[in-house]
Amino acid sequence: MEKIMIFDTTLRDGEQAPGFSMNGEEKIQMARQLEKLQVDVIEAGYPIASEGDFEAVKQISAEIRSVTIAGLARAVPIDIDRCWQALEGAAKPRIHTFLATSDIHLKYKLGKSREEALEIAVKAVQRARSYCNDVEFSAEDAGRTDIDFLCRVFDAVIEAGATVINVPDTVGYQTPAEYGALIRTLRERVRDTDRVTISTHCHDDLGLAVANSLAGIEGGARQIECAINGIGERAGNAALEEVVMAIDTRKKYYNVTTGVQTEELFRSSQLLSKLTGKDVQVNKAIVGKNAFAHEAGIHQDGMLKAAVTYEIMVPERVGVKSMIVLGKHSGRHALVARYRELGYDLSKEDLDRAYQGFVKVADRRKVVSDDDLIAIIEKREAAANV
Ligand code: KIV
Ligand code: ZN
Repeated sequence: MEKIMIFDTTLRDGEQAPGFSMNGEEKIQMARQLEKLQVDVIEAGYPIASEGDFEAVKQISAEIRSVTIAGLARAVPIDIDRCWQALEGAAKPRIHTFLATSDIHLKYKLGKSREEALEIAVKAVQRARSYCNDVEFSAEDAGRTDIDFLCRVFDAVIEAGATVINVPDTVGYQTPAEYGALIRTLRERVRDTDRVTISTHCHDDLGLAVANSLAGIEGGARQIECAINGIGERAGNAALEEVVMAIDTRKKYYNVTTGVQTEELFRSSQLLSKLTGKDVQVNKAIVGKNAFAHEAGIHQDGMLKAAVTYEIMVPERVGVKSMIVLGKHSGRHALVARYRELGYDLSKEDLDRAYQGFVKVADRRKVVSDDDLIAIIEKREAAANV
């Protein structure tokens, strides 16, 4: 089974999103967790952007030895040189240089012609290669770039020494079918794509970043750029935990695998949330508080009989304990099971009484806690607010 490289950009694209900035110490802590998660590449920052980012990339490069460390650089000499200064201590350094290629960006943002852009891209890759054997080139706004020109750009940067070509849907405009077809076309039309890795970088403006990344895999991409909790510019990047678990859960369908230690996913999500002070939405796939919580009576009954009825992946696989949440939609089966877990084997009479108490509490509260259940069964109803 082919391996998909997981390129984590939590500390670069993620961190540059409003409200998600981290100081050097926080970035190091997150990088240590990403190493435990066993991602393949950590994009540690954008060294030219600030002294703090430079130092963070340098420190991460010195400490994290088992993972490739990437730094971002615009396709200009000053960025590339600074990026290398930050990365040179890394065991496995990668310079990631980028240039916009869509006519919209060339005209309104850069004021450059296509030919000028082509020359800049080639020079940037050559300069990066003079420092480092692992060079990624991103064609910013590739999703809206003329396909013939995009092929020419990738042909040229591969010839100049790029080892990874990245295809960003910078503005999150693509649909899965379009993006998958784009990757397939590039794989067929660009020369020497078997010598390089094709990479996806999808933004979530239409909520399609994960679907587009997975379509990219089907088209032949072998690196996915993503971020923990899906953080990133605007609506964010593809959520790492969703991409990884889609591949893990549907391995036979995708016929690929990743090296990610999935049991570390929840911990990684929690750490990021703690460091940035930003909660994860409760219904967020994989890492949200409710992602494995079953409250409806019918679901709980099914779960208690066989988890496969309502669970497509085992929560422990992502580092979460299975959760039956007792609330007003729960039934007697779940109540008996929870009491059993708490050490009570209820007679029918006890259960009838406990159930009546439970319904009263559940009517008032969203969730009935273990303490409430114990208070009910121990006839300390007052404590359970009955
Ligand atoms: O979204 C984007 O185009 C980027 C590039 C710098 C890769 O983040
Ligand atoms: Zn991006």
